[in-house]
Amino acid sequence: MKKSGILQTDFFGKLANSPLVLASGVIDVSYSGMLRAVEAGCGIVTMKSLTLEPRKGHNGPVVAEFAGGFINSMGLCNPGIDSGLKEADDFKNRSDAPLIASVFAISTDDFIALTRKVNDSKADAIELNLSCPNVADEYGIPLAASKEKVTEIVLEVKKISRLPVIAKLSPNTYNVPEIAKAAENAGADALTLINTLGPGMVINIHARKPMILNKFGGISGAAIKPVALKLIYQISKLIDIPIIGTGGVLNADDAIEFLMAGAKYVSIGTAVYYHGIEVFTEIREGLINYLTTNNLSSIEDILPLS
Ligand code: DHB
Repeated sequence: MKKSGILQTDFFGKLANSPLVLASGVIDVSYSGMLRAVEAGCGIVTMKSLTLEPRKGHNGPVVAEFAGGFINSMGLCNPGIDSGLKEADDFKNRSDAPLIASVFAISTDDFIALTRKVNDSKADAIELNLSCPNVADEYGIPLAASKEKVTEIVLEVKKISRLPVIAKLSPNTYNVPEIAKAAENAGADALTLINTLGPGMVINIHARKPMILNKFGGISGAAIKPVALKLIYQISKLIDIPIIGTGGVLNADDAIEFLMAGAKYVSIGTAVYYHGIEVFTEIREGLINYLTTNNLSSIEDILPLS
């Protein structure tokens, strides 16, 4: 990884080597995977969403590729909050890179219990996954579809969190800007926009069956980028808190589009499946080239569109 201070970014008082974020759910269950992402040029790491109890997740196949990206229905497989936070601490014992602990629950009480545990860890921020599209059968529609639920959870978590609270919202409702504003009003310190789209479906015509066992899964990749950009652009005009933009960022040009749409940080997930973790090195170098060819001295000089 080429070292350059030009991409350094503040993350709630901590220094990140770049505004590039490893998205939740991508090689982020063990501390070694997270370290590899940072080594490659990722500035901030998000862990796979942790639940109070371990979850096996759905039976496979859980991922399928299509022309516009992937669909996945992992089913929130994770080792549970206690084991997960040990990995978080192991990571922080070896790296200064800011770490976001992502948590998933369906009740306010469970979010509070998870927050207390994250408070006792070395994580630098907590991300509330209010928007997993794959567990509706078990839990009903995602919390991020309801302004009232988002407000209640963010308010209660903020009362006890010692860390910045990030709300990860869903694109799968017509009033995302209103919900984003509600999250800010309830005290959220940042938003992650957007979680996967859909769910959607991909069919294997030879086997005459859905490509993934769970039939439906959240859509990621190039297909969802215009949706993400539109929501980030619209919502960044309504709120004052920073946005972690995500959804189909495959290269440096995509990352620049997200910054121009109004994101402060750019989170990358699906690109890792195509290009490996080295995609962070490529995107990092692409950002540095863009800044130098345009005579810009820092990443903040890539201004949002009016
Ligand atoms: C899963 C969770 C998500 O929030 C998402 O966007 C995609 C998949 C999951 O674990 O199933």
